[in-house]
Amino acid sequence: MTEPNHPIDIPPSWERITVSALSGTLLIVGAADTGKSTFARYLYGRLCEYHERVAFIDGDVGQATLGPPTTMTLVLNEPGQCVFPPAGPRFRAFVGSVSPRAHMIPLLLGAHRLVQKARDMGATAIVFDTTGLVDPAYGGCELKWAKVDLLRPSVVFGLQRRSELEYLLLPLRLSRRVRVIDLPVSQAVQRRDVPTRQEHRANSFRRYFEGAKAVELNWRNLAVFPVPIFTPLRLVALEDSAGFTLGLGIVMTSDRVSGTVSLYTPLTSLEGVNALRLGNITIDPHTFRDTRLL
Ligand SMILES: Nc1ncnc2c1ncn2[C@@H]1O[C@H](COP(=O)(O)OP(=O)(O)O)[C@@H](O)[C@H]1O
Ligand SMILES: [Mg+2]
Repeated sequence: MTEPNHPIDIPPSWERITVSALSGTLLIVGAADTGKSTFARYLYGRLCEYHERVAFIDGDVGQATLGPPTTMTLVLNEPGQCVFPPAGPRFRAFVGSVSPRAHMIPLLLGAHRLVQKARDMGATAIVFDTTGLVDPAYGGCELKWAKVDLLRPSVVFGLQRRSELEYLLLPLRLSRRVRVIDLPVSQAVQRRDVPTRQEHRANSFRRYFEGAKAVELNWRNLAVFPVPIFTPLRLVALEDSAGFTLGLGIVMTSDRVSGTVSLYTPLTSLEGVNALRLGNITIDPHTFRDTRLL
């Protein structure tokens, strides 16, 4: 994602988009490092000129833009305002992994919950940025098609270098369930290698956990998904009754006999928390690097 003051290259094809005619959910798809998040932010800025209430959903659980990795974040603008990141209400959905592979059900449910919330909050345009999982061999097509069926976007923007998205886009074009707008990949896109991606996630977790403290709670009073195995350093989401994530915590200690668990979390109040959802990564609280658990 482009840094706030980093000048962006705006290809003529972006400028030609008739933004005044766009509304509803606008899904942005492309492989990793195709400029999806940069385009998403550009589109958000232009939509604000025509819509009073615009929502931005960061649906990338790996290279997240607006929230800690493993979560998807919805942010709304303050009516009439156009700053990025948007300054209005925020909602989060926990997926529990830094990759959608093997976590497609929570990813789809969370995406649906966030889009529904954006609509309930009065957003008439919703920009939805997605993960770079588009490879059919890893379920990329199934995932994106399911998103289209579930979220009913008015437009899918496809960013592709050659024809790597055609497995995914051709059936969508033919189905006529959604309008597909093709966009080229900007020459200005910078690719990120695996260590850079991991460092990016660690920085994002570090920022999120700044000022965190240990909080003890009794998990027997809460719904625990999927099963209460509080492995040390495991990442946990604290959720409200609607399934939104109020905060994340890292397991420090736990005691099965008393049913207590100590979580390192920036959340200052447990009010409204009625469920814990265990992720499938651990986080080192010194380096903030993540390691897959299962
Ligand atoms: N149009 C653009 N102009 C300038 N830099 C860009 C542009 N598109 C992408 N980049 C840069 O390339 C990198 C990857 O872009 P990003 O939008 O995060 O891609 P994706 O979301 O597809 O992984 C970022 O560092 C971003 O600043
Ligand atoms: Mg991105």
